[in-house]
Amino acid sequence: MYEICPETAADEAEVEALYDLCFAPGRTALSSYRLRDGVPKVADLCLVLRADGILQAAIRFWPVRVARKPVLLLGPIAVHPTAQGEGLGGMLMRDSLRRARHLGWGRVLLVGDAPYYSRFGFSRLDDVEMPPPTNPDRVLGLELSPGAWVGVAGPVMRETSPGVMEMLAQYTGSPDNDSACVTVQTPDPQVLREDSDGDKSATGASADQ
Ligand SMILES: CC(C)(COP(=O)(O)OP(=O)(O)OC[C@H]1O[C@@H](n2cnc3c(N)ncnc32)[C@H](O)[C@@H]1OP(=O)(O)O)[C@@H](O)C(=O)NCCC(=O)NCCS
Repeated sequence: MYEICPETAADEAEVEALYDLCFAPGRTALSSYRLRDGVPKVADLCLVLRADGILQAAIRFWPVRVARKPVLLLGPIAVHPTAQGEGLGGMLMRDSLRRARHLGWGRVLLVGDAPYYSRFGFSRLDDVEMPPPTNPDRVLGLELSPGAWVGVAGPVMRETSPGVMEMLAQYTGSPDNDSACVTVQTPDPQVLREDSDGDKSATGASADQ
């Protein structure tokens, strides 16, 4: 049994330690982090997954802009090395995207391995440019509302709108975090197999979030 909850300030050090463990040293030097500098996270969508209180996985989202339109930047997502391949990453992806849709977000962007993220509906965004150096094959998008990426092209920009920044900074999560938590069973391996697209590389390979 697992519990997925919005990340709180009390989780932050543990989540950072998990990311340090799962990603190469210097992860914050990646160009995608420049889009996050000084910008508050989207608190409702930053989730931690625990089993018996022990942190197993985490996912975060930031707001960015493409062609002045609001976009969710997904990542980092990481699952503790001892729990990878058990479906926890998939659970966090699905639950966070469900929450994002519910909150009215239309489009999501990430930098990652298409063979993994295609199972959640992500595909290459040919006309969207992440800050260099980013391999364009790894710039992937998902429409949460039909047509949300149509005609949305150009460089990915930091969120700078004062109104949005103020709103995100003041908002540190749902007023009642407990009610925003969900309890989930151990993922069904059969369901995981049916979700797969049959084109996988090694678990956790070459992530640059
Ligand atoms: C990538 C990650 C989040 C996936 O979470 P997970 O819980 O291990 O993955 P799941 O159990 O949901 O899915 C496992 C499946 O995904 C595949 N997979 C995992 N990482 C993959 C990758 N980078 N590319 C392609 N397939 C991948 C596995 O081979 C497995 O396939 P199967 O269902 O056919 O057996 C996790 O492995 C991780 O934290 N890795 C290290 C950090 C990282 O790379 N983060 C992602 C940034 S792009």
